[in-house]
Amino acid sequence: MRTKWVMGNWKMNGSLSQNAQLLTQLTQNAAVQNAVVFVPAPYLQQAQTLLQGSDVLLGAQNVSQFANGAYTGEVSLSMLKEFGVSMILVGHSERRQLFGESNQVIAQKTLAVLQAGLTPVVCVGETLAEREVGQAKEVVLSQLIAVADTVADGLGQCVVAYEPVWAIGTGKTASPEQAQEVHAWLRDCLTERGAPSVSVLYGGSVKASNAKELFEQPDIDGGLVGGASLIAEEFIGICQSAV
Ligand code: PGA
Repeated sequence: MRTKWVMGNWKMNGSLSQNAQLLTQLTQNAAVQNAVVFVPAPYLQQAQTLLQGSDVLLGAQNVSQFANGAYTGEVSLSMLKEFGVSMILVGHSERRQLFGESNQVIAQKTLAVLQAGLTPVVCVGETLAEREVGQAKEVVLSQLIAVADTVADGLGQCVVAYEPVWAIGTGKTASPEQAQEVHAWLRDCLTERGAPSVSVLYGGSVKASNAKELFEQPDIDGGLVGGASLIAEEFIGICQSAV
């Protein structure tokens, strides 16, 4: 079923005291529904404790495609499950661009997450250079198809996030029309592959002030929020726009 999600990607931000303050404010606010926070791995246990009894789900920002063993610095799915993680970001543009994750690695990670019974949030998006030469459609669809070909029937269990790279952390949001156009391409591709009800979120400089017009678009099922997810009033405002 298409669900309108508001997901907060904290990236490499936070501290024990900042997290406690933020999570307490979120869990005390009735508007925070269908919400997920993707916290840095060292804070999973703290977040799990603070989120207990609330409706806010716990997410991780990355995971290894391997089950266990000699993979220094990596974190496994079974470890994440021990801390109550239910969703995992896969293929974020920062992982693709800064850490060299290929479509193939991202597809393997997505499959591993599904096999562990958790929900992958598969991120796709074009760079400004790709958009300017008219390749946005080709890029986002090839990113989605690389995953779809690998996970086959598992596609219906994924969440997809469209995050134009040029809009991430830049303050430059895609217009609702620009975003809707790409979401419609993604929706068509998902429908062709038997997964029409996958939630497709928009990400890239989402704020309380622009969330409503984005979320009103017919194929936008909520948002994946970076910077604004670190500010309680902003995140709560975005949640209010998602109902
Ligand atoms: P932003 O980040 O909201 O800070 O642009 C979004 C994301 O990278 O998920």
